[in-house]
Amino acid sequence: LSRRRLLGGGAAVLGVAGIGAAGIGTGLGYAATREPEPTGGRTVAFHGVHQAGIDTEPQAFAAFVALDLRPGLDRRALVGIMKVWAEDGRRLTEGSPALGDTEPELAHDPARLTVTVGFGPAVFDAAGLAAQRPEWLRPLPAFSIDRLEERWSGGDLLVQVCADDPVTVSHATRTLAKSVRSLATVRWVQRGFRNAAGTKPAGTTMRNLMGQVDGTVNPAAGSTDFDRQVWNPGTPAWLAGGTSVVVRRIRMELDTWDELDRPARELAVGRDLASGAPLTGNREHDDPDFAATDVHGIPVIPPESHVARARPRNANERFLRRGYNYDDPDGAGLLFASYQADVDAQFVPVQQRLAEHDALNPWITPIGSAVFAVPPGFGPGGYPGDTLLE
Ligand code: HEM
Repeated sequence: LSRRRLLGGGAAVLGVAGIGAAGIGTGLGYAATREPEPTGGRTVAFHGVHQAGIDTEPQAFAAFVALDLRPGLDRRALVGIMKVWAEDGRRLTEGSPALGDTEPELAHDPARLTVTVGFGPAVFDAAGLAAQRPEWLRPLPAFSIDRLEERWSGGDLLVQVCADDPVTVSHATRTLAKSVRSLATVRWVQRGFRNAAGTKPAGTTMRNLMGQVDGTVNPAAGSTDFDRQVWNPGTPAWLAGGTSVVVRRIRMELDTWDELDRPARELAVGRDLASGAPLTGNREHDDPDFAATDVHGIPVIPPESHVARARPRNANERFLRRGYNYDDPDGAGLLFASYQADVDAQFVPVQQRLAEHDALNPWITPIGSAVFAVPPGFGPGGYPGDTLLE
């Protein structure tokens, strides 16, 4: 044992020495100690058919910011907000300071920054366009598992800010909120994270704070499945190429989750913790076999497990999950974010089924909920929602 410890210690000392050598620039050029290229300069196109930040490979950090319109705001004022965000969003995502940026140096590393704008139900009344509100744009029905708090729910506007650097997210969030503060006030901010960029190979499915591989069953960006599930076909017409987002703050009851052993944890979800494979498979993306039984005739994947209950019962019940972990003074959990063409047809039946029964329910509690319509993308000279507000 002591020999092992000695070798381990030796390796650590070598590691430190290596870093030191690179740090003082001896020019020895040890491959293992070479600094990786900074990734702060990477950008994601701001303009396009769809708003960025949905089919974008998830960045490491996110802030979901809900704002409320100041009372009496009309359509012209709304257009004003959107034009400001279109300009700020373009500049910041390119790595340029916003107009009147008070900390311009913080704008120089976009780190794949995306800014995605959503409309809450009240936008349509304010704009005098109530007839254009999508049917499904309202608070979700009350679910038996919900313990919703006002401070994490609702909102007239959403700005979703994602980037691979938390300083970038912080700066963009503050700038976007500040530049419209005479017209809209911040209602809530929810910050989330995944692994830092570079920690895992690109394309690795995230893990949530229960340690589970989370996001395996998801449509691939650019696929027909993705297009069908996520992008609205034009009901109503102005929303063609847009989508909806459901943001739910789901607290994890980690103290009681700690009382479960590993097999019990795996049965609750229906998947292996280490690999993320279904309990009937070996690899993460193996198809689960819900019909498989053990020698006693008991289903290998329990019918009450999270994946068995969440499985779509028809072709409509599918959507993109692109959530983030949160770990704040009020607890830890998942900022669940799902994107779908139609909330009522795709999301609600699944959430309803999970609320009725899901083996995970004793350890997850929804404490916030909001729904937004996400207007389509736009070009230079356009703004979020121009197809509605023009
Ligand atoms: C799958 C965890 C909330 C819908 C999964 C998986 C995990 C997981 C580990 C398996 C891997 C995967 O395919 O991603 C969680 C946790 C939650 C949560 C910890 C709360 C904190 C929700 C909610 C919904 C949902 C609120 C929707 C209402 C789904 C769906 C799947 C899934 C549709 C894929 C099912 C399939 O295999 O077809 N979730 N989930 N989850 N979850 Fe959740």
